Amino acid sequence: MTDDPSAHHTLPSSPDTGRRRDEPAETADGAAVDGNIHVGYWDGAADDRSLDQATDRLTDLVAERLGAAPGRRLLDVGCGTGRPALRIARATGARVSGISVSDEDIALARTRADAAGLAGHVDFRYADARALPFGTASFDGAWAIESMMHIADRTAALTEIARTLRPGSPLVVTDVLLRSPVTGEAAELVRRTCRAFGSPALPEPAELRTALGRAGLEVVEFGDIGEHVRPTYQAFADAFDGVAPSADDPHHEFFGFTRSLPRFGALPQIGYVFLVARRP
Ligand SMILES: C[S@@+](CC[C@H](N)C(=O)[O-])C[C@H]1O[C@@H](n2cnc3c(N)ncnc32)[C@H](O)[C@@H]1O
Repeated sequence: MTDDPSAHHTLPSSPDTGRRRDEPAETADGAAVDGNIHVGYWDGAADDRSLDQATDRLTDLVAERLGAAPGRRLLDVGCGTGRPALRIARATGARVSGISVSDEDIALARTRADAAGLAGHVDFRYADARALPFGTASFDGAWAIESMMHIADRTAALTEIARTLRPGSPLVVTDVLLRSPVTGEAAELVRRTCRAFGSPALPEPAELRTALGRAGLEVVEFGDIGEHVRPTYQAFADAFDGVAPSADDPHHEFFGFTRSLPRFGALPQIGYVFLVARRP
């Protein structure tokens, strides 16, 4: 297992809101996959949100826990291509700093911020969560949507995030969760999925709680919203059906794997953590 940031590759994003639901994603790059890089949240079977609407919904649930307001400073750990940061900055008036270990992410996120006219409110830079380029107690809140799963030393990352938070400020973490150990074929499927996601190992509940405690963070809320996000895996497989990436596409492995995602997502051991912690 490696924790070298250069070894990380991440999921491509969900289809862009501009694309009609019935329009197939034709290429592995460009606008068709340029959006949120996280699961969607549905209330239940009767909730007919599209994948895009549901992924924005997850961002909104995170925003609700941040107590964001104009003038506040927030940190987005593992910002992807910036859509969550821009959405939260626009909705709340807060200033957001986003970091990622992908130059490609940062370039796209900056382009998005310019296009949205939010460059004065949001900044994106290349940085590792385990060595943040920010002073102690710089932020009034932070979030990490599906970035902890990419980091082997989660205690180191959480300790560093905690350092940058002002006392009393919240950290919201959401991530794919391994609820309980898997064996046999299920273990092999989880192992292959981790490889495709670029995850050294999926977070587990006890391990996350221990890491938060070691980082000096208090758990305020620790939920498993796995059943609300489960439709994502089939939706991703449908959205990327027929996508033919070139061999040098950095997400080549992920695209080759999307057909297996529904089987992974159906494993009862796969959940999704939504937690709020606080720096005392
Ligand atoms: C699945 S994407 C999620 C992106 C974004 N949070 C979203 O929801 O759209 C994972 C992100 O974590 C970032 N990441 C992975 N390891 C990291 C590390 N050690 N430090 C900072 N960011 C990291 C990746 O570069 C990527 O931007």
